[in-house]
Amino acid sequence: MIVIGGGPGGYAAALYGAGIGLDVGLVEKGPMGGTCLHVGCIPAKELLETAHVFRTVRDAAEFGVNASQPTVDWAVTMTRKQTIIDQLAGGVTSLLKGRKVTVYDGAGSLGANHEVQITGGESGDVTATAPAVILATGSLPHTIPGFEVDGRFVMTSDEVLSMDALPARAAVIGGGAIGCEFASMMGDLGVEVTVLEALPQILTGCDTDATKVVERSFKKRGISVRTGVMVAGHTPDPSGQHTTVAFGDGESIDVEAVVVSVGRRPFADLLGLAGTGVAVDDRGFVAVDERCRTGEPGVWAVGDLINTPQLAHVAFAEGMLAIRDILGEQPTPLDHHGTPWCIYCHPEVAFAGHTEESAKDAGFDVVTSAHRFISNGRAKIVGDTDGIVKVIAERRPDGTGGRILGVHMVGPWVTEQLGQGYLAVNWEATIDDVAAFIQPHPTMSELFGETVLSLTGRSLHG
Ligand code: NAI
Repeated sequence: MIVIGGGPGGYAAALYGAGIGLDVGLVEKGPMGGTCLHVGCIPAKELLETAHVFRTVRDAAEFGVNASQPTVDWAVTMTRKQTIIDQLAGGVTSLLKGRKVTVYDGAGSLGANHEVQITGGESGDVTATAPAVILATGSLPHTIPGFEVDGRFVMTSDEVLSMDALPARAAVIGGGAIGCEFASMMGDLGVEVTVLEALPQILTGCDTDATKVVERSFKKRGISVRTGVMVAGHTPDPSGQHTTVAFGDGESIDVEAVVVSVGRRPFADLLGLAGTGVAVDDRGFVAVDERCRTGEPGVWAVGDLINTPQLAHVAFAEGMLAIRDILGEQPTPLDHHGTPWCIYCHPEVAFAGHTEESAKDAGFDVVTSAHRFISNGRAKIVGDTDGIVKVIAERRPDGTGGRILGVHMVGPWVTEQLGQGYLAVNWEATIDDVAAFIQPHPTMSELFGETVLSLTGRSLHG
């Protein structure tokens, strides 16, 4: 098997396949680990953790711990981030080596008869063929006209994650997962941030009750959010120190940095594909069926290259699914409706399954319950109480909850708490099934138990 692309989709396919005994070649033109490891999930969460440490030290006096007023040494922050990336990338590389995956350094393209050309890297020009080929070349940040990356003011996530210094003021265009994570991180570290979002709310796709909690917290922390506004362009000041971003109805803001986070596009640009049956749709996604098979027999595509949620964990799952399909195991297709989503801004957001709105739109008669972290012992102890857990269930005739349709969390460490909500949704558990379980005390995850319990028609604390 040959895999083109060494991000989460590609390296998962390579590791999983080689672990089962397939003879695997993996083509990667950059460092092993792809967007997730080098310019995505890992560095973004590392910088958000820096923001968390900053808040903790700043607020330490509340615990009777006297620390001096924190300041950020950005160079140290960047070094720590890079050390973590390097360690993880080294780990992936040695796992691949341990499983005897042949790694080709260069760009791979696919032609007729499963012929893969590898060029432009340390491996030189190589032609390789294999009965099975997996395309996993990922995605790139979108930009918008008038906001091209310029090496000075305009950045995408690629540049933000290794910027030399924090700006004093920044505009973040796009209030999706990336925009909110960067806004949160920079805001906590003292940057004056304005989020400019075209839609009526930030974090579209999240339950609106969860989004409101994030918006309130941002406001409290001085992060300005402007929704329903279009940006018109930016004009650098002759001094070269700042630029004016025009938006909405003749409004503008003066900033030192503009972060463009308006989505990512699939990256099939170097794949060739002439003479193959692999189809690319009008948005650039490689077309696949529910088992990640392209139109060319023996060629699969996974990860951000295909039109499924652009998440590293989805890519891992698709990489493994493709291997199981190659092995003829007839794997069950992934159910993207139940995908776990985790957004690491402060407060964090995590969910799986229907929002209240999408459940109603899908024709379910629903009953919901939401409980707040303000009443949770562990959240109080930690000093982080903004947030809720909301459970959406099918309404039974007596008004209590039946099958759990969606679990939405916003608040402290919820990305680490989603697990049981994810299982409940995807296992199609009922309220009664889950309410019977004991939640350890004192934990933040008790709030999920309380919320589920309240949908039985009885409750304990709330
Ligand atoms: P996104 O699609 O999630 O959000 C982009 C936002 O930009 C949308 O709200 C959109 O309405 C807005 N927008 C688009 N054009 C605009 C314009 N001209 N002016 C103002 N607003 C505009 O994309 P994002 O945040 O860049 O993330 C890319 C992908 O990576 C997404 O699929 C995201 O879910 C995924 N991702 C997930 C993370 C997580 O789950 N923690 C972290 C980072 C990325």
